[in-house]
Amino acid sequence: MKFFGAVFFFTLTAAADKPGLPDGPGKQTTEKLCSACHGVNIFVNRRESRDGWNSLVEEMIRHGMQGEDEEVGEVSTYLAKHLSRSTPAPRVNVNQSTARELAVGLGIAESKTRVIVKYREANGNFKNIEDLFKVPGIETQPIEAKRNEIDY
Ligand code: HEC
Repeated sequence: MKFFGAVFFFTLTAAADKPGLPDGPGKQTTEKLCSACHGVNIFVNRRESRDGWNSLVEEMIRHGMQGEDEEVGEVSTYLAKHLSRSTPAPRVNVNQSTARELAVGLGIAESKTRVIVKYREANGNFKNIEDLFKVPGIETQPIEAKRNEIDY
């Protein structure tokens, strides 16, 4: 069991907690619609294509997201423009980050990044993206989208 790193990294989590959404038309509507259930920090560092954001928004509607059609359209447009794959995102180190930091850094839920951390503790550091994809139940698509921002 290699979980020696976890305790120390717990103390480093606070600083990365308050990233905001980039300015632009639709930002306020996005904050309104997308922070009803979880913080916007769950997706500020996520990067997707237009189709990727559209299907994520549909997923959130299935989770119960409320909003007028117009607002939902505005949000999808905002996300596709401001959090597109061509917008650089901060780097994330998958061997040194806590579950919380990984959630913000990779734009996936903390329930999932906890599985990544457990896997890392049991199997040692990740060497490359293929190693990451071995984590049971991992969603490859958001990680693939951030391939160039991931450090090992
Ligand atoms: C009605 C509640 C609700 C609203 C509103 C909502 N979400 Fe979510 N969101 C969820 C739930 C539930 C999850 C799943 C959390 C988990 O898997 O632990 C989630 C997860 C996510 C994830 C992580 C997905 C993953 O694959 O790990 C992202 C990114 C996300 N939401 C983005 C958004 C965006 C963008 C909006 C606004 C368009 C939004 N959410 C609005 C409920 C909501």
